[in-house]
Amino acid sequence: MKVIVCENYEEESKKAFEVMKDVIQKNPHAILGLATGSSPEGLYKEMVKDYEENGTSYADITSYNLDEYVGIDRNHPESYYSFMHKHLFDHVNIKPENTHLPEGSTQADADAYEAELKKVTIDLQLLGIGRNGHIGFNEPGTSFDAPTHIVDLTQSTLEANSRFFDNDVNKVPHQAMSMGLGSIMRSKKILLVANGANKADAVKAMVEGPVTEKVPASILQKHPDVVVVLDKAAASKL
Ligand code: GLP
Repeated sequence: MKVIVCENYEEESKKAFEVMKDVIQKNPHAILGLATGSSPEGLYKEMVKDYEENGTSYADITSYNLDEYVGIDRNHPESYYSFMHKHLFDHVNIKPENTHLPEGSTQADADAYEAELKKVTIDLQLLGIGRNGHIGFNEPGTSFDAPTHIVDLTQSTLEANSRFFDNDVNKVPHQAMSMGLGSIMRSKKILLVANGANKADAVKAMVEGPVTEKVPASILQKHPDVVVVLDKAAASKL
């Protein structure tokens, strides 16, 4: 695991962008695993800026998103589908047919997404991390081998995500569909971004703690090519 500590969020986003750009430049047909949440927003801004200023093309890029809420419409402003359009897809020349997000509410829908994922190899999987060490929506206790599955969100995640739903925990969808840890670990390279003091414990457990299903992100210690880009606050307990 390569850990890069940056002065602040802006620098962190620029550093993460360098890792992303390197993959896209080396392979204009790259398959990207994309993530939502506030952590990667700065990186997406850098990608859009680079597209506008330097014309880096996404015409042959394919993307697969990590997760999506169950039970809200795709066009709901807080769906991850809307998030991706707002922060990236609507601003670069990626082809809509090349973008994929989990959709549906049953394990059969999750199996269908996993089957699609199994046909490809993700060149770069982008991740954030939850305060309890979750990645995607793989909550503590998820099997390290899990494929794409339907998840009951924990109270900690519902509370953390309520800020996007009028600070009302009852408005947060209680389930999600998420790539599993097994799906994530098949990616060639992983880029995880985290910022802020409220991520410091999760980051420490991921990087220095034992590899345990209690901390889903700790499985990344077993992946051969992981880059973790942090701001100082998220790195403060390392
Ligand atoms: C959500 C997402 C994760 C994300 C995490 C942290 O629950 N499913 O993919 O990494 O929360 O979000 P944020 O970056 O907003 O702190």
